[in-house]
Amino acid sequence: MSHDHAEHVDNSLLAKAKRTFPLVPISRGLSRASRKAASAAHKLQFHVEWDADNPEYFDHFIDQHWQWSANRQSFPWERGVYSSLALQATRSGSHLPKVLELCCGDGFNTYHFYSAQADSITSIDFDPSAIATAKKNCSYANIRYLLGDIRTDIPEGVYDNVIWDAAIEHFTETEIKALMGTIKSRLDTGGILSGYTIIEPDDGGKHLHQHEYEFHDKSDLARFLEPWFNNVQVLETVHPQRRNLYFWASDSALPISREIALTVEK
Ligand SMILES: C[S@@+](CC[C@H](N)C(=O)[O-])C[C@H]1O[C@@H](n2cnc3c(N)ncnc32)[C@H](O)[C@@H]1O
Repeated sequence: MSHDHAEHVDNSLLAKAKRTFPLVPISRGLSRASRKAASAAHKLQFHVEWDADNPEYFDHFIDQHWQWSANRQSFPWERGVYSSLALQATRSGSHLPKVLELCCGDGFNTYHFYSAQADSITSIDFDPSAIATAKKNCSYANIRYLLGDIRTDIPEGVYDNVIWDAAIEHFTETEIKALMGTIKSRLDTGGILSGYTIIEPDDGGKHLHQHEYEFHDKSDLARFLEPWFNNVQVLETVHPQRRNLYFWASDSALPISREIALTVEK
């Protein structure tokens, strides 16, 4: 029996079963019940992790299974989408980019947003718990997780993309300036640095005690990129609890000026 024929028989069996039994409501009910259980477990995990002695990285499965639905805040996914544009821009035909990700945390974006668009991705973080979590939950054949401090241990090599999500604010201004030089030295001609950070709160405090420097606005972030790159773009998005900044920097065209986009302006 050919594979097509087998599938046809299977499908017609399923069609018959669906006409006889309430399979669709049953399977929807099972999914709904499992979402409720997952949501309760992730809400509990959130409170255990974040109500005292919070870690330096977020387990984004909490967003996926609880927080997104509970708060209707979609910003956790923005960083994956905006850095994906940079990966699309350095892709050339079937050649996928070689990617370096700094401060990868739990590896959620590494796996869910970047790995399928990369030839290879090397992701580094200095927290052993983050690297262990990433390896446990977000491994894939083309991902290499490294334990290391990016102030001293950025791996050698030349990359098409460097991604730095939710972490530039964890460094002092002096450290950021020094890191920019190393990042630039790891990028191929035409390579793109992309990433995400948060704007300081209006009341002058800090979003997280581990943050060394929270940016005032778009220009405050751009001033760290401009000395190293010919082209810089910083985008701000506004959400009820925070304002976010996304950046792209390159000596070649920025992502939305490349082939991935058509712009018509009148
Ligand atoms: C808020 S998390 C961001 C994680 C991930 N990129 C994301 O978008 O969810 C910041 C990460 O930076 C890492 N980090 C802070 N300082 C570091 C350093 N000097 N070297 C390597 N990683 C560092 C922390 O361990 C943490 O995992």
